[in-house]
Amino acid sequence: MQLKNDLILRAARGEKTERTPVWMMRQAGRILPEYRAVRNSLNGFIELVKTPQFAAEVTVQPVDILGVDAAIIFSDILVIPEAMGCPYEMVEKRGPTFPKTIKTEKDIDELRIADGETDLGYVIEAIKLTNKELAGRVPLIGFAGAPWTLFSYMVEGSGSKTFSKARGFLYTEPALAHKALEKITQSTISYMKAQVKAGAHMLQIFDSWAGVLPPQHYREFSLAYIRKICEAIPEVPVTVFAKGAFFALEETGQLPCATVGLDWNMDVAESRAKVGASKTLQGNLDPCALYGSFAEIEKATKGMLKAFGPQRHIANLGHGVYPDTDPEKVKCFIETVKEYRHG
Ligand code: CP3
Repeated sequence: MQLKNDLILRAARGEKTERTPVWMMRQAGRILPEYRAVRNSLNGFIELVKTPQFAAEVTVQPVDILGVDAAIIFSDILVIPEAMGCPYEMVEKRGPTFPKTIKTEKDIDELRIADGETDLGYVIEAIKLTNKELAGRVPLIGFAGAPWTLFSYMVEGSGSKTFSKARGFLYTEPALAHKALEKITQSTISYMKAQVKAGAHMLQIFDSWAGVLPPQHYREFSLAYIRKICEAIPEVPVTVFAKGAFFALEETGQLPCATVGLDWNMDVAESRAKVGASKTLQGNLDPCALYGSFAEIEKATKGMLKAFGPQRHIANLGHGVYPDTDPEKVKCFIETVKEYRHG
């Protein structure tokens, strides 16, 4: 299907765009009352994730309501641990928990390598349905968690302030950590390839907990596996978003990916110098800027656009939009990007 708006794909490939494209991490699900309505009609989050018809519906909502230049498939990064034999539960207001965590070699040996087409068939079906509903209006982004971030949840059994169990595992059982990370990586490659085959136009890897690692561990236990994923999927542009990994921007810039995501702590000019000219940058307005007045949002957004410059930039927040953000403020951010012309 011919895309009517391919700005974001052109920006990712480094081709010229007449304006900067914009989407928002966590745009589907966190802020729209229309999402809540669909979710409340079902038996919780996981049922929504596993019902392609509803997952597709909430994926398209931000395109209709907010006017973003891309859709991101509604799912979660934790579908991979589940497919490998580590199911999660979603506790309202508390986030995900895992009844079973990985601690021993036996636990790791018991993990299955997931097959994208079969084990995650419900996401694959949702991607196909979403593209039907989008009818080429905007590209569809597929995604997965980075192996390190998934490993962190599988070891901790929930979110954590320090991720000290997961980080500790890297010191006490480095060989076992590699064994688990390799299995997660193989599962992720199969899953992302299936997403592309089903119609995902681009992919994002979320390394949400990159920032808790010291640089040498980040290189060994995270970047090395992200590299394998990028190398395995040359078909579509891949974005690597490693939250907090400012210390590794130069190496992230050397990955075979199209785009590097910046969080809001990262200085734009400094990041560009480290990443180099051959990548597109994505980001990076502080999600809290959307708590400001409309005038302040416009000013902050224009400042961000100016700092990145007219090409090789995909406008976004520096992390997911916060759940208590007013959708009207979000629209102000999106509209400001869409109307801005670089002088
Ligand atoms: O735009 C989108 O929101 C698309 C779908 C999406 C979800 N999760 C749905 C979701 C995406 C891209 C994710 C990614 C995700 N999930 C990440 C990486 C991005 C990031 O924010 O760093 C992480 C770390 C998770 C794990 C996860 N899932 C947590 C920590 C939580 C609880 C709190 C929260 O909302 O972040 C979830 C639940 C979750 N995933 C919800 C949604 C819409 C809220 C659940 C609900 O509706 O009750």
